[in-house]
Amino acid sequence: MSILLNNQFDQNSGWQAALSKELPELNIACYPDVSDAAAIHYGVVWGHPFGDLKRYPNLRAIFSLGAGMEHLLNDPELPEVPLISLGDPAMSQDMANYALYWVIDFHRHMQHYRAEQMRQQWNRLETPPTNDFNVLVLGLGRIGQHVAELIQQAGFNVTGWDFKSKTAAALSTVSGNDALSELLPSTNVVISCLALNERSHQLINADFLAQLPMGSHVVNISRGGVIDEDALLDALDSDRLNGAALDVFSIEPLPSEHRLWTHSKVNVTPHMAGPTHISSAASVIAENIRRMERSEQPEPIFDRSRGVQAAAMQDKNT
Ligand code: GLV
Repeated sequence: MSILLNNQFDQNSGWQAALSKELPELNIACYPDVSDAAAIHYGVVWGHPFGDLKRYPNLRAIFSLGAGMEHLLNDPELPEVPLISLGDPAMSQDMANYALYWVIDFHRHMQHYRAEQMRQQWNRLETPPTNDFNVLVLGLGRIGQHVAELIQQAGFNVTGWDFKSKTAAALSTVSGNDALSELLPSTNVVISCLALNERSHQLINADFLAQLPMGSHVVNISRGGVIDEDALLDALDSDRLNGAALDVFSIEPLPSEHRLWTHSKVNVTPHMAGPTHISSAASVIAENIRRMERSEQPEPIFDRSRGVQAAAMQDKNT
């Protein structure tokens, strides 16, 4: 029994060592060096060539080396086996920390103080109490819930929203378009943790942004396609938005001529909010393989009916 391993954006050797340590009884075939296609039971991949996964007749499941699944779903010949997203708590923690960092930055006007320091100016701005600063987290999958909970624990007033109703212990949650329209006028920071699909594509558009109060903020740690970037730039120029922290973009890497690079209110990071950490990710994947070998369910199994927007391959930092 073998694992097919391929991380398009990294050397496979680190992954091979970590997976071998976790699963010493399994052979790990690093793509493209696969001598026996019939021996492959599990695919562990990111950015794998389209059409290849159908060549393994005994494939039981495909594990993504990241949380996103578009690198698999865009394969027109993807075999009908369970697809398992990477549900690594270490990644969710990093993403939650990233989002909290920017919420604090926006709440405490840090952008203003950075600029004032350059001019040697000692000018304080008023700050609302932490629990009056309203944060709206869009998308309540495991990452969104982790983000919302951490920011709530820091004392902010957090609401979680999703298309469909989802309960999350200790979190105030709402769902549907009407609830969104009710919340937006009192939201200080919107954080997107939404997977990209037909419903979420450009959900944050001109109409959405016009419902936010003047001086609000946007953080995006999911996929660039959730935001209409031209509408975002207009909202920044008109002072509807006072700041944006963007880790993901509709085209990655962000093209050098793109206005988001140089906008004074925009903070650009290169899709680094939730890196995959090899050691923790390998142990999460290995535990799922052990579960499958015991005829138990791996998790989280991706629901294929949610679909995905055809998207450019996203860069993966490991
Ligand atoms: C990163 O974007 C991931 O999908 O893990």
